[in-house]
Amino acid sequence: MENKIISTKIEVYSYNELNDTDKNLVERAKKATETSYAPYSKFNVGAAVLLENGEIISGSNQENAAFPSGTCAERTTIFYAGARFPGVRFCKLAIAAFTEGEFIDEPISPCGACRQAILEYEKLGGQPIEILLAGRNKVYKLQGIRSLLPLSFEEF
Ligand code: THU
Repeated sequence: MENKIISTKIEVYSYNELNDTDKNLVERAKKATETSYAPYSKFNVGAAVLLENGEIISGSNQENAAFPSGTCAERTTIFYAGARFPGVRFCKLAIAAFTEGEFIDEPISPCGACRQAILEYEKLGGQPIEILLAGRNKVYKLQGIRSLLPLSFEEF
């Protein structure tokens, strides 16, 4: 028997340490929380993706009385970006969450289904998608979705 250890590197930035591109993307994700439809969880999530052509697409979680029918902010955003700009690579994805009157202090991280969906676009693009997880004052930066999805399912 041998052990296989998988580690994840998370770069922790204060908001002010980010470059202008990253600050802007985080702001777009935060702004997108305002469009969240989350009457059930009251947990408003926003996401924003920067495409290689310079476009930024943002989106939010959209819930439904039939709970499984709702969609996370990440999938709303990346599926719409894929539909608007098919074949255009995604460079960076920022995620923010707002609840009980304030942005969450500790960054949230995408659910398993969203990680798998992000991975697919990362593979299509042929390069890692940088992930920015925004807390109130700090931002976690990951150099690709594989950091959050070790031993991922890979069919192609
Ligand atoms: N949610 C997201 O939109 N993204 C995440 O990364 C985690 C959770 C949504 C799903 C649901 O509408 C609400 O947040 C509470 O789970």
